[in-house]
Amino acid sequence: MTHPIITAIEERRTTVLFDTARDLGDEQISELVRLATTAPTSFNLQNWRFIAVRTPAAKARLRSIAWNQAKITGAPVTFIVIGQMANEKTLPDRLAPAVEAGIMPAAMVDGWVAGAGSLYADQPWRQRDEAIRTATFGAMTMILSAHAMGLGAGPMIGFDHEAVSREFGLAETEIPAMLLSIGYGTPENWRQKPRRPLGQVLSFA
Ligand SMILES: Cc1cc2nc3c(=O)[nH]c(=O)nc-3n(C[C@H](O)[C@H](O)[C@H](O)COP(=O)(O)O)c2cc1C
Repeated sequence: MTHPIITAIEERRTTVLFDTARDLGDEQISELVRLATTAPTSFNLQNWRFIAVRTPAAKARLRSIAWNQAKITGAPVTFIVIGQMANEKTLPDRLAPAVEAGIMPAAMVDGWVAGAGSLYADQPWRQRDEAIRTATFGAMTMILSAHAMGLGAGPMIGFDHEAVSREFGLAETEIPAMLLSIGYGTPENWRQKPRRPLGQVLSFA
């Protein structure tokens, strides 16, 4: 029997058309973010943040700076998936729960901070790369979680990054990596498109 995760990966489609009559409650939105934050991040930095844009006024404001994409007002919620520049100084706080849970020995924390510092300190490009990676892992986890909850998701990069940062109060160290509209999709959404043949994308070394 095919594992349900494989089935979900194969069934998932990008959703651009949403049933405008069906809303999402606070609990569903919170659950989507909770599941997204189970995604792995470098050193468990968890350098992400999610803004759930769901009021008519906020949706209209976002749509006007996102290529006027109709799914932003059509979907019950569009998340601004934010990656934060990687900063090793945040790590002791981020790792404390793993130490308290008995997963990670307290004595290892300094070593992880030093390792992260050697990668990111004074390396803005690497800090930024990590912000995008973190947001992307979170977004993909949210997309599959949405699918499991009977919802469809549409990622978007078609927006004015500076305007989104300004309008929604992002810090200098925060990058709006992606927008992600989520809701109940209508049957008219295209099924998943064919992909390039494996021979073009896989090599062995
Ligand atoms: C990073 C990223 C950015 C995207 N930006 C947009 C966008 O701004 N507007 C849009 O309509 N679709 C956007 N898409 C949707 C893609 O066109 C879609 O995921 C792709 O065609 C594959 O669709 P499928 O997975 O359903 O086969 C984006 C997808 C990704 C992953």
